[in-house]
Amino acid sequence: MSSNTAATTRDGAASPEPQEDTEPKPVPTLVVDALTVRFSGLVALDNVSFTVAPGTIHALIGPNGAGKSTCFNVVSGVYRATAGAVRYAGKDLTRLAPHRIARLAVARTFQNIVLTHGTVADNLMLGRHSLTRAGFTSTALRLPQAVREQRRHRERAAEIADFLGLGPAFDKPVGSLAYGDRKRVEMARALCMEPKLLLLDEPVAGMHPTERVAMAETIAKVRDALGISILIVEHDMGLIMRIADSVTVLDFGRLIADGTPERVQRDPAVISAYLGTPAQDEGTQP
Ligand SMILES: Nc1ncnc2c1ncn2[C@@H]1O[C@H](COP(=O)(O)OP(=O)(O)OP(=O)(O)O)[C@@H](O)[C@H]1O
Ligand SMILES: [Mg+2]
Repeated sequence: MSSNTAATTRDGAASPEPQEDTEPKPVPTLVVDALTVRFSGLVALDNVSFTVAPGTIHALIGPNGAGKSTCFNVVSGVYRATAGAVRYAGKDLTRLAPHRIARLAVARTFQNIVLTHGTVADNLMLGRHSLTRAGFTSTALRLPQAVREQRRHRERAAEIADFLGLGPAFDKPVGSLAYGDRKRVEMARALCMEPKLLLLDEPVAGMHPTERVAMAETIAKVRDALGISILIVEHDMGLIMRIADSVTVLDFGRLIADGTPERVQRDPAVISAYLGTPAQDEGTQP
């Protein structure tokens, strides 16, 4: 388990701390409380509750259609909850629009998204947009203050790119990068929003084994260096068991297990839920 401040690293690696924070704010706890989501006849989430402790990697796993992305979509404000609450930083997120949730320093990546447009820098600067103070007119007129602010954002984006191993690709078109690096750009874009809570929906899907291992190390490095909370959906059980501090397991919208990776892995309900599920991982059964 790691510290919940953004100041230190566990392994002594360079930490891309946010520049504008004089006093790092504490990382809030995320509480998913009795969350239910129905789509006409289908119950995608059924009375699901779990807690993401500050500064931890919390995995949300389960077979296809279990309700994992639906849960992400409610936390990030894309879907409305039918019942229940998601509490974070003193607010009920189920009542907020996505842009207001983003302002609470919650950032997400999307399942199946592969960036194709612009350079790495362009994509990362999109992540900085919500933190930009200068208005459209002063930016368009290139007023000195707006130019200075843009420069600061670009420096910060370059720092985050370096941290994720994308430094040499910073000015390259994303379309020219290998698939694994494009998935990294998507995570870097989310990190450019300076999140305290990062939601990663299948960050290694489609990657080959070497890229997966490297990405797992990067995700753990982000937790350790920034002290932020990470809620991760991933089918790669080997990866989850290596990097997660705690795991929640869903099956057909219901929570069937919650605890440490070791405990969840041995849970009979989890083993039975995964039997018959096609292997999509490095071959490790939960
Ligand atoms: N917008 C929607 N409208 C109707 N049904 C939906 C919608 N979004 C999700 N569902 C349904 O809710 C259930 C849960 O879907 P969800 O995408 O959350 O699963 P998942 O656990 O993320 O699965 P996967 O591992 O395949 O990504 C599925 O039966 C899905 O078809
Ligand atoms: Mg999904």
